[in-house]
Amino acid sequence: MTNANSVALIQIEYLFATWTSFFQYLDLVCREIQSIWRFTMSFTHTGITEQVLAYRAPDPPVKEFEPPKDRAFFADPEKKTLLAAAKQVRHLTPYIGTELVGIQLSQLSDAQKDELALLVAERGVVFFREQGLTLDQQHDFITHYGIQDRDPNQQDPRHVTIIGRDNDIRAYGDMSGEYHSDHSHEANPPAYTMLRMVRTPEFGGDTIFTSQTALFDKLSPTFQKLFEGLHGVHSSEHTFVNSINGGYNPFRPPQRREHPLVRTHPVTKLKSLFYNPMFLIHIAELKGQESIHALSFLREHLHAADDLTVRWKWEPGSVAFWDNRVVAHRALPGGYDTSLREGKRTAIFGEKPFFDPSGETLTQRIERLRGDATKAETVKLHFNTASGETND
Ligand SMILES: [Fe+2]
Repeated sequence: MTNANSVALIQIEYLFATWTSFFQYLDLVCREIQSIWRFTMSFTHTGITEQVLAYRAPDPPVKEFEPPKDRAFFADPEKKTLLAAAKQVRHLTPYIGTELVGIQLSQLSDAQKDELALLVAERGVVFFREQGLTLDQQHDFITHYGIQDRDPNQQDPRHVTIIGRDNDIRAYGDMSGEYHSDHSHEANPPAYTMLRMVRTPEFGGDTIFTSQTALFDKLSPTFQKLFEGLHGVHSSEHTFVNSINGGYNPFRPPQRREHPLVRTHPVTKLKSLFYNPMFLIHIAELKGQESIHALSFLREHLHAADDLTVRWKWEPGSVAFWDNRVVAHRALPGGYDTSLREGKRTAIFGEKPFFDPSGETLTQRIERLRGDATKAETVKLHFNTASGETND
């Protein structure tokens, strides 16, 4: 055997050993996740199959970076040009969700787009109906707000196609109807995210959005202090395995990353939970059982938050524009012809999540403004506008 051959053989053996140990590690991780799942009823995967063992993600993980400045910082705090263009501004619940009636997204000026970013940051999600936006226009629209994000399973670089689902959300290991924020396991999880529904069934397939700003606000001060400063471990290992076994080709390898469990919104400066029952597998600073029970509590806290939630019924041409940094969402599967539901989702990278202890809870902000009852009431609807702070 020549020297070159023996070097190549060593390299192959090294690569094989590396991959074998990686998958042994992945198997251990997945067993751990399955064991946790028995307690939290959240995490499972479909197994380390031959397809999983053979799969190589084509792209490397996305490295952490600093995205361009949030466009909401450039907005008129009163959002005059945007709101004046609407025939009607419908606040759908006290804590989350506003529908702007009579606006075509394709015709907004750059100043109106900036004001829309601020409204989304404040209200969590803003809805529109009867939009004539084309896919190209939707792509252009989202790039006004920053660098376009790409979901690990996204085939077309411009968008994710969202389809109908008919899963049983009560089945063992079914996460399809679980609350989440999109791919929070990335270094820069998405911020502004748009879903435009192309086709919908007459009924079924609604999406539920819940304010994590309000979720944090509703905790007792004792629990708020307990969770502040902790870090959630977000993992895509189980969804990576499930994607491959489901016939998909994820672009990036699985990720495991810590983010603050309580984060501060860069624009509103409000504190918010950054909880995600789909990807958050552990709380870094806690021991095993402490973490399992804390996560179970957070899941119940989220699922019981009907008062902090808005449910959106789609029609063809409907659009939801939400802030994945401070909103959890879930699409309700089942009960309809899934071939009738198709949407296009586009998103931008957000900042690396951070926690600023000097930020306020929603109640603290209202109490600070209590001298002006009108402002205190308004701040529930417009978290930032009535704060008296500048946007810089
Ligand atoms: Fe989602």
